[in-house]
Amino acid sequence: MHARQRTNRVVNRIEYFVIFCNVTKKAFYMKTQTILITAGPTIEPIDPMRHITNHSSGKMGYALARACIRAGYRVILISGPTQLKKPGGCLFVPVKTARDMLKEVLCHFPHADICFKVAAVADYRVSKFSSRKIKKTRDRFNLTLIKNPDILKKLGQIKKNSQTLVGFAAETHQGVTYARQKLKEKNLDWIVLNEISKKNVGFGSDLNEVTLISSDGKKIKFQRQKKEELAKQILKTVTKVPVDQTRRFSFTRFNLFSFLGRL
Ligand code: PMT
Repeated sequence: MHARQRTNRVVNRIEYFVIFCNVTKKAFYMKTQTILITAGPTIEPIDPMRHITNHSSGKMGYALARACIRAGYRVILISGPTQLKKPGGCLFVPVKTARDMLKEVLCHFPHADICFKVAAVADYRVSKFSSRKIKKTRDRFNLTLIKNPDILKKLGQIKKNSQTLVGFAAETHQGVTYARQKLKEKNLDWIVLNEISKKNVGFGSDLNEVTLISSDGKKIKFQRQKKEELAKQILKTVTKVPVDQTRRFSFTRFNLFSFLGRL
């Protein structure tokens, strides 16, 4: 064999080896992409009978979890109390209070590539929980509230460059201004703005319309549509992967969680 043929053969083998490494790296990368999602409300007990909460039904967060599972991601869903059926094929972590949610989020966040903070966290809790039922003897009754930890802000402080952090904002007025402020203050990559003063969207509804704003100045508006559809659009925008393509079966995107979820 000529020296030149030998050299060509070696070069070919090196090329094959490089292709093999790239394919394996891609397969490994896709299989290990983890998405952390928080959904639903948190509840803050006042006494054994009453609590403070908000109107979140969990529908938006659960729709996003289902979209991520179908697209082949490994999904961790941390959820406040809702009436919804748990999405199959994900690690489901139920919580009640903002402080429970903080604990679970901090435990799972280091393993996440993308985090969607859809949950409507109660901003305040009572300063002192009453272990006995409070009697309604007085006409006026004051509760002292203290601020809950801001989970998203904490994540913004500890996030690595490789992680994508997506916050949600529910606003009644000056939505874009407040959303941009939150994006900056909480060091987010994206914020999804819900204008909750609009009728038949947002809290509790099957429909939603949102504006996505990115830290590099993009502003994308999604018209009113089913939360299920919107979730796919949000995922597609944040990951820049065409969602319809990811739905096709592919060995590189296959993972046990999503497979079990489809059974
Ligand atoms: O659950 P649905 O009925 O489907 O309704 C969906 C929704 C309207 C609840 C959802 O789309 C939404 O907008 N969620 C965010 C609501 C909210 O809490 O917005 P906020 O502007 O108060 O908070 C901004 C962000 O900070 C949110 O990502 C929130 O999760 C986070 N936060 C807030 C307070 C706090 N103490 N800790 C937090 O992490």
